[in-house]
Amino acid sequence: MDNLKRTALVTGGNRGLGEAISRALHDAGHAVIITHTPGNRKVAAWLTTQTNQGYNFVGYGVDVADFQSTQDLAQQIHSDGRQVDILVNNAGITRDASLRKLDKANWDAVLRTNLDSMFNVTKPFIEPMMERGWGRIVNISSINGSKGQFGQTNYSAAKAGVHGFTKALAQEVARAGVTVNTVSPGYLATEMVTTMREDVLARIVEAIPVGRLGQPDETAALVAFIASEKAAFMTGSNIAMNGGQHMF
Ligand code: CAA
Repeated sequence: MDNLKRTALVTGGNRGLGEAISRALHDAGHAVIITHTPGNRKVAAWLTTQTNQGYNFVGYGVDVADFQSTQDLAQQIHSDGRQVDILVNNAGITRDASLRKLDKANWDAVLRTNLDSMFNVTKPFIEPMMERGWGRIVNISSINGSKGQFGQTNYSAAKAGVHGFTKALAQEVARAGVTVNTVSPGYLATEMVTTMREDVLARIVEAIPVGRLGQPDETAALVAFIASEKAAFMTGSNIAMNGGQHMF
């Protein structure tokens, strides 16, 4: 079956991989809602640039780490007459430090933003998806959720948790026509990666068999497929795209 027009919500959809995913879902013919951090002053200009390039996105501010903020978001989206058929839990942060140097605040920030957000954002949209008998949830994890990474106990723990969440939820909603999958990208050419310490990044790129960073639109194309009608039999999966850096 050809793709029907659905409405997608991409958290952190204005930056990095999220931006590429928003554009790929728009290219697939869907209406796309993006979320950004509350009070982000760059979003208006970003939305205008996207519109000028033919991408009409609707933006909402939300703190995905904050339960109440996400419930308010869902209420606002629903009272604006929109429904969410495709949810991409993409928003995430890094606060890298070896455990010896990692403080409680940076442990908490990463766990709240990267893992609690799965519960916070998915919770208000799951019931309506099940009632309609169709839904796609794509949770963005990371290569480092599977292989671990020096300096990322917080991030690796949260990203490993993401796939646990996926596998449990996938079982709960499969009969209702909702699929839940994890995508685990490797190191992509986004700000999150390119702002890493130069020597550390150079060593990481050396360890990627393909010999380069991934492009965000390569991973975005995978997300668009998982969100499509054709992907109905794929659920509970964890799909890696990492240039061969880690195989599982
Ligand atoms: N393996 C083993 N030992 C290592 C190491 C490694 N990978 N990296 C550093 N060390 C050693 C150093 O050689 C040094 O040893 P000595 O004390 O004997 O000299 C010691 O560990 C340094 O420890 P520190 O706690 O002082 O570490 P640091 O402050 O120098 O650096 C860090 C810590 C900044 C977090 C650095 O390790 C780092 O940047 N790591 C990479 C983190 C990373 O990959 N982040 C990915 C961000 S992008 C992303 O997350 C997206 C995605 O999904 C892929």
